[in-house]
Amino acid sequence: MDKFVVKGGVPLRGPIETSGAKNSALPALAATLLTDQPVVLRRIPHVRDVRTMQRLLVDIGATVDVDNGCVRIQVSRVRSPEAPYELVKTMRASSLVLGPLVARAGRARVSLPGGCGIGARPINLHLAGLEQLGAQIQQAHGYIEAVAPQGLRGAAIRFERITVTGTEDLIMAAVLAQGETVIENAAREPEVADLADLLIKMGARITGGDLTVTGCVPEHNSALITKLQAAGAEVTEVDRSTLRVRAESVLRSVDMSTAEYPGFATDLQAQYMALMTQAEGIAIIEETIFENRFMHAQELARMGANIRLEGNQAIVAGRKELTGAGVIASDLRASASLVLAALVARGETVIDRVYHIDRGYEKIEEKLAGVGAQIRRLD
Ligand code: EPZ
Repeated sequence: MDKFVVKGGVPLRGPIETSGAKNSALPALAATLLTDQPVVLRRIPHVRDVRTMQRLLVDIGATVDVDNGCVRIQVSRVRSPEAPYELVKTMRASSLVLGPLVARAGRARVSLPGGCGIGARPINLHLAGLEQLGAQIQQAHGYIEAVAPQGLRGAAIRFERITVTGTEDLIMAAVLAQGETVIENAAREPEVADLADLLIKMGARITGGDLTVTGCVPEHNSALITKLQAAGAEVTEVDRSTLRVRAESVLRSVDMSTAEYPGFATDLQAQYMALMTQAEGIAIIEETIFENRFMHAQELARMGANIRLEGNQAIVAGRKELTGAGVIASDLRASASLVLAALVARGETVIDRVYHIDRGYEKIEEKLAGVGAQIRRLD
């Protein structure tokens, strides 16, 4: 066994490079089981658990080519839907192949993970979730055996407690299940978001937000509702003062021009621009009421948005990953658009001069926190 010999007391200086995250790499590797097409993953760290997962995929039927952190995997056919004890006894994340295998091949035989220095690592929540998706599960001789002869079907699943690999396992199973699956109390670690991003790139439709807006007059918002629906959001009038808004997959870009009522309100233009930074395609947003109402474009660009201004038009190229940044609220509606952008951005955004927001939005941070946003006010 190798040893490290460390002599202390020497100050550390200079650049130090990070590697790709193991706990993002493992579910990404397991996700390649879901398709017969090739998947190319970059910045996969060269660590033992990753090598074990790659060997496991080869055993199952994959061809794996590794070149300097870039891994190309293709599972044209699942030859053997099994994760044997000898191979996975040192890797607790072996349960990550259970969901994809039963979803793709209709059966899986996966060794139970062994004991672990950090405490028991049960997978009862993975199993209960898979059963809800329609799998029949048995445990014998240290193995989990799961079958789904009729395939899996979507279900509403609520985890009793948050589990990272459990969430990943079930998301992977659910993307091949018939119908919609809703997972409540899901883990939200960056590695879970990474997996969701990969699955979306592979063609999955992963449920976005689901909001119920109360105390509004739907009719007053008909221009906005029409645009949201054209972009692919599901907007339903629950009753005369309640709207439910859902986005189950990536929205499409839709051009918009502001106009007097009942047209699209200029006061929603900035917020709409934040939305279009996330939609697929290019949206042309035209401001016809005020001359200088694109101040937010520059701040959104600082967060990574791709927006070009031409006179009274903003051309927004969508699907740009926004990243948290320090930004300045310039007016009331611009500030609201920065809050929205911050909600989808990776990392932390600090929005300065929120007194602009306070002029027109009552307790915006409390309302958003109430539906799960991580937002707080600094004095
Ligand atoms: C993941 O483990 C990580 N592993 C761990 O990283 C990490 O420490 C852990 O999440 C917490 O962040 C990988 O991503 C491969 P859990 P996981 O299921 O998914 C209980 C490292 O050092 N539970 O979120 O196995 C469980 O006992 C490793 O890189 C059940 O009761 O952790 C624990 O108390 C170590 N039943 C809690 O939930 C279940 O079915 C959280 O575990 C599943 C979990």
